[in-house]
Amino acid sequence: MRPLIAGNWKMHGLTAQLRDIETISATVHSRSPAADVLICLPATLLSKAAYTAAGRIAIGGEDCHAEVSGAFTGDISADMLKDAGAAAVIVGHSERRKYHGETDAMVAAKARAAYRSGLSTIVCIGETEAQYSAGNRLAVCGEQIAGSVPAELARSGTLAIAYEPLWAIGSGHVPTHDQIAQVHGHIRKCLMELAGTAGAEMRILYGGSVTSDNAHEILGLANVDGVLIGGASLLAVDFDAVLRTLLLRA
Ligand code: PGA
Repeated sequence: MRPLIAGNWKMHGLTAQLRDIETISATVHSRSPAADVLICLPATLLSKAAYTAAGRIAIGGEDCHAEVSGAFTGDISADMLKDAGAAAVIVGHSERRKYHGETDAMVAAKARAAYRSGLSTIVCIGETEAQYSAGNRLAVCGEQIAGSVPAELARSGTLAIAYEPLWAIGSGHVPTHDQIAQVHGHIRKCLMELAGTAGAEMRILYGGSVTSDNAHEILGLANVDGVLIGGASLLAVDFDAVLRTLLLRA
């Protein structure tokens, strides 16, 4: 499967950072790494970033509302993201679940909205540190898939899952390779139960403290079809270093 290397800028980025989009786009264009590249960034930058990227890399949003339009002050619909030049959107990131109280059902509704608007969607799942310590990570991920991944979308070919253990996000702590492979294998099994053969073709990304030091090995693990990168996607020099590790795979 062709891997997806996705960045998540979170609440970072002003107009000046568009130069990083230009640098990353130029790198991808000149080196054609054997991967699709997507940068998800704040809605305020979407149209400018899409213009700067000029199709060399894909640009995405970080969240969308489940409704097409309405009295939802401050929210942004999937149609609006698409209209601004986004090709994709992240839904259900743990920071949305934690700080905005998003439930699995809300995440599923957002994924449906993104699909209706023609956006590729990354649905994030992952266990907390307490759930990890209690040995519940497989069960938690299975429940989150059942609750936040609509079966019809899993069959659509437009959805990817990102496994992001909460304790690994921004912490510098990464699960062992065996642990990542075990969880990704379990996610694959759940997706196949949900969507049959389409579940075998869905990308499963790993996210949580991915850097140029560990990206290559993580991407080599079974059922790891890409990475979702927060901190190390913010500067072109760091993201570029991750992309360079991919050239080793060519
Ligand atoms: P991180 O974030 O790479 O900074 O750990 C990943 C994410 O939250 O998507």
